[in-house]
Amino acid sequence: MTIISKSEEDTRKAGEIFASSLQEGDVISLRGSLGAGKTVFAKGIAKGLGIEEAIVSPTFTIVQEYDGRMRMYHLDLYRLSGEDEFESMGGEDFLYSDGVSLIEWSEKIESMLPSSTIYVNIEILENGERAVSAEGGRHEYSLA
Ligand SMILES: Nc1ncnc2c1ncn2[C@@H]1O[C@H](COP(=O)(O)OP(=O)(O)O)[C@@H](O)[C@H]1O
Ligand SMILES: [Mg+2]
Repeated sequence: MTIISKSEEDTRKAGEIFASSLQEGDVISLRGSLGAGKTVFAKGIAKGLGIEEAIVSPTFTIVQEYDGRMRMYHLDLYRLSGEDEFESMGGEDFLYSDGVSLIEWSEKIESMLPSSTIYVNIEILENGERAVSAEGGRHEYSLA
């Protein structure tokens, strides 16, 4: 499933719609280059989960936790060295959790991702629009 997003607001809305089908324990790998819109999509998910707190990028803290309809863990592994560091920070708790985990730069822990991971890919097109697609997972979901 792929949608074209023409604006930050479109991407946020896609995240909000996507959130309505999320279930406890879901892991979402957010993929795309720097500035593609992964954090914007995460903000949309947060809104969809009824989280009122402002979403701040976890680039420096690695993980931020929020409370909504379900707990939301937002991870950004950009600064993580690799799987060893993820293990020592107790990262597996976020892969098998009581809430939903959104992971930016999950490539760093590729082999640890559950087989039920939902992959959301955001690609910057030549005209600046974004192609947002989703695949994998163990239940139905939608972006529009
Ligand atoms: N269609 C779009 N979807 C999402 N973001 C967009 C779009 N068009 C422009 N942008 C801009 O791109 C940037 C995306 O930033 P961010 O979500 O932090 O990226 P990432 O987390 O992937 O590094 C924001 O400044 C946003 O305003
Ligand atoms: Mg980001």
